[in-house]
Amino acid sequence: MQNHSALQEKLALAYLGGGEARIASQHGKGKLTARERIHLLLDPGSFEEVGTLVTHRTTDFGMGDQLFYGDGVVTGYGTIDGRLVYLFAQDFTVFGGSLSETHAEKICKVMDMALKTGAPFIGLNDSGGARIQEGVRSLGGYADIFYRNVQASGVIPQLSAIMGPCAGGAVYSPAMTDFTIMVENTSYMFVTGPNVVKTVTNEEVTSEQLGGASTHSTKSGVTHLTAANDLVCLAKVKTLLSYLPQNCEEKPAALPYTLGEESREALEGIVPASANQPYDMRAVIEGIIDPGTFFEIHENYAENIVVGFARLAGRSIGIVANQPMSLAGVLDVESSKKAARFTRTCDCFNVPLLVLVDVPGFLPGTDQEWSGIITNGAKLLYALSEATVPRITVITRKAYGGAYDVMNSKHIGADLNYAWPTAEIAVMGAKGASEIIFKREIEAATDSAAKLAEKEAEYAAEFANPYRAAQRGFIDEVIAPRDTRRKLIRGFAALENKAVATPKRKHGNIPL
Ligand code: HXC
Repeated sequence: MQNHSALQEKLALAYLGGGEARIASQHGKGKLTARERIHLLLDPGSFEEVGTLVTHRTTDFGMGDQLFYGDGVVTGYGTIDGRLVYLFAQDFTVFGGSLSETHAEKICKVMDMALKTGAPFIGLNDSGGARIQEGVRSLGGYADIFYRNVQASGVIPQLSAIMGPCAGGAVYSPAMTDFTIMVENTSYMFVTGPNVVKTVTNEEVTSEQLGGASTHSTKSGVTHLTAANDLVCLAKVKTLLSYLPQNCEEKPAALPYTLGEESREALEGIVPASANQPYDMRAVIEGIIDPGTFFEIHENYAENIVVGFARLAGRSIGIVANQPMSLAGVLDVESSKKAARFTRTCDCFNVPLLVLVDVPGFLPGTDQEWSGIITNGAKLLYALSEATVPRITVITRKAYGGAYDVMNSKHIGADLNYAWPTAEIAVMGAKGASEIIFKREIEAATDSAAKLAEKEAEYAAEFANPYRAAQRGFIDEVIAPRDTRRKLIRGFAALENKAVATPKRKHGNIPL
């Protein structure tokens, strides 16, 4: 009986974390505690804790007298929509959630379990970084986690929620996971904080400006998603997980779906008559997928390409789509990196890829060349070329130049390539092409502007269409927009058991 009460006493202390005052302070900042977050994330009653009574082993700086059960992190496993996941949630009420040697050991223990059992791993980060009193032991603990992040990469989905501070080298664990989601106004990530920035560069910047959710979702692309508060953040983690499988050996779960006629009239008339007029590619996406299932990734970063998950007849798919609304949908450094990363994530986890194409080419200019558009554009070309998941392309309008090849062309391994009748597949646009190949004729003409217009029209009639490509078999079918959803449902179903033997090698060498 006495033993039992000793256990209850210890558990009660553990559940109290850093104590009532610090919990109130956490709530005062608009943040939930580690345990509250876990209970909201997991199916009710499914959480099993591991390492509740762990304490740190430090005696330096009077730490021997300050023992908190759990040592600033709650770890364990549970289920989300009935699926097993392992997780940690850092407890800011205990030493600011800072990472000690034992804190790291707890995280590593559940990471190892996740990897051994092939289950997703979720980190809820809220930490002041390395436990200053522990010095190099804390740094070693971080490295133990980083190493495991890499071992688990591409094997199990790893999701990182940033729900408070995440500074210094600590940022590299989320950076190596598949997805990062930041809570607006209460989280930040940076390698060096505003004070160090001021000392080294004399730049005055707030934490929010330097590394808040808004910065990382628009300027750096470090975070894939943002959330207005903790509740929204945890809900988004659950939704994101629903599109992913347990591990790389499995496929994402399909929702039950009864096939209908699947024609979508709304897809007709989205592409404007004029080739230079923009339209929102999201309207095409919404017209194709199961209603309300688009889960966009990197929504406000490199907006000239749209990426995200959706469901098509209940199946999870990944979408990569040029966005004519932004920079005419041109490919540049940032959009290439964004799409390449998403492509590789889908390929790791057996999520079939749909690529929607309306691309005028690569963005010209010194800024792009000096920022390495060659190497960065190659990332997307490489990522799509190596992807072995079912891959279907739909060209809605422009597919010009090298960008035609890059955007999931038949030549780089796409399985089915469709084009709408509005597609223009050529080396370049009619004006540029006419100026080059009819240069002499245009110069010799009495009215060179009229001659150019005539040649442009001639070229457009001949080449600015999908039929040359269809004649060669580079396009499998030219389809009416309204039939696109049906074609894609059937196409992905036909490709369901696609298997590709890849050459034996240690790993490819993607141009990083
Ligand atoms: C030990 C820490 C701590 C840390 C915070 N605390 N950070 N204890 N090690 N790194 C403790 C505080 O002493 C305090 O304890 C409690 O946590 C809450 O901290 P406050 O400062 O009161 O909270 P707040 O005002 O919200 O500020 C949060 C903070 C600040 C911005 C995170 O605490 C801070 O700047 N901490 C240091 C951050 C840092 O420089 N970390 C090292 C980064 S380098 P009491 O008992 O008073 O409640 C790094 C290297 C990793 O992490 C390398 C990996 C390779």
